[in-house]
Parts: sequence; C-alpha cells; structure tokens
Amino acid sequence: VLREVEPFLTLIESRNDLAGQLKDRYSLKDIIVVRGDAEENPFVKEELAKLTAEQLTEQLFPGAVVSVAGGSTMALVSKFLRPKHEDLLFIPARGGLGEEVAYQSNSIVGYLAEATEGQHRMLYAPDSISEASLQSLKAEPMVSEIIELNERSSFVIHGIGDAFEMARRRNVDEATMQKLAEGQAVGEAFGFYFDADGELVHKVTTIGLQLEDLGKKEAIFAVAGGESKKEAVKAYLKLAPENTILIIDEVIAGHLLA
Ligand code: F6P
Repeated sequence: VLREVEPFLTLIESRNDLAGQLKDRYSLKDIIVVRGDAEENPFVKEELAKLTAEQLTEQLFPGAVVSVAGGSTMALVSKFLRPKHEDLLFIPARGGLGEEVAYQSNSIVGYLAEATEGQHRMLYAPDSISEASLQSLKAEPMVSEIIELNERSSFVIHGIGDAFEMARRRNVDEATMQKLAEGQAVGEAFGFYFDADGELVHKVTTIGLQLEDLGKKEAIFAVAGGESKKEAVKAYLKLAPENTILIIDEVIAGHLLA
C-alpha cells in the first residue's frame, strides 16, 4: 500500500511546492497548481474546472453576482458546482466574442445557474459591431442591466487564451490579424488581446466587463492550462490585479518560474 501511495504523495508535495514558489514571486490572492498538462490530458482540464468550482464555492455568498467569460475551460466548471448558496446570479462578462455556441458565456451562465439552482441573464450583443450600433444597444434596458451588473458583480471567472489561437478560433478579419501581429499580441482574456508586457493590443468591440473593473472585485478566478498558453498566462500576470486567484496546470507553473 505504501508503495502505491508514496509516489502520489510526492507529486502532491511537488505541486504544492510549485504553488508556494509562485506565491513568493507573484503577489496574487491565491495560486493553485494542478498536476500535468491540460492539453495532453483532458482530466487535467477537468481538474482545473473542479478546483475553480471549489474555490468559487468557498468565496460565494447568498445573492452573489458572478461575471462569467466563455471558452471550453469555463464550460466545464458547472459540472462540479452544487447548490450551496441561495439566489446566485450568473451574468456574461462580455457580449459575443465570435465563439461557437457551447463556448459562449451566454450558454455557460445557463449551465452554472442550473447547477447551483440560481439565476442567469443573457447578453444579446454581437461582437465587433459599429460604434453607433454599440451606443444604441447600450441604451436597451436588457443590455444596460448587464452592464450595470458587471460593474457591481463580486466575482469574475474567466479563461485565458493564446492570442493567435483565439483570433483563429474567432475567424477574425485580416486587418485584426495584422494589428495583433504588429502589436506582438501573445494572450487574450474576455476580448482583450495583450502583448508580453501585459499592454493592450486590441479589444473586441463589445459590451460588458472592462479591465478597469477587475480591481474592485472580491476575487477574479483566472483559469488556464496547457503548454500553448504559457506565454499568454505569463503576460496576463503583468496586468492581473492582486485580487486574482490563479488556477493553472504544472506546465504553465513551470514556465512562470523559469
Ligand atoms: O472567448 C472566450 C474566452 O474566455 C477567451 O477570452 C479565452 O481566451 C478563451 O475563451 C479560453 O478558452 P479555452 O478555455 O477554450 O481555452
């Protein structure tokens, strides 16, 4: 029995050690590291989602409002959430970003509300609309409600992606691709593309949460795993406020310490 348990304990130990070293280097609210590479092993991605669900449950309180981003990692979180706090409200952090339906925050807020027996709202705002349409949309009561809720939400949960991977996934136009290339974008989070210094390169024209809103939240759960995202996460940490809870895999953790 001991022989079976021992290697496992060693791995847990090294995982905790990684998180400990990261905490010495980055001053964030918390850092949690999952063993392995989420791109190699789907269970690692599930584990990231499970830990996100657990951490979120610990912080939630009755009536809490949670801003939620899209993506395949976020889409897994509801699988691990249970009803525990009353009257939770999940809202899309931003409008459409060009993702397929299952990965849109409008879908994910529905799954999260169902899992927690809470509520959700949808945000009907397409991505990259003209400035004039954007202004008239903002005046719509259903839309302005979401803008206001995003301003006062207590929590944000979001994924982080590689800039060009996300741009391709969203089929962005040639001009945007060029802008990202010229600006040397490396990462992306809820519609904001940034370079290795965490400087904004491009922002999808849509409605909802702004980077400036992050600092006043009780906690931001930033979740990412996989070798291809390591530069993106490193860059994101240049702009992440101190109230961020970072949930990453071992591959990214190693890179952040390199
Ligand atoms: O498009 C929504 C989004 O949250 C992006 O901001 C982020 O880069 C991406 O999804 C993460 O997606 P995934 O979890 O599938 O890698």
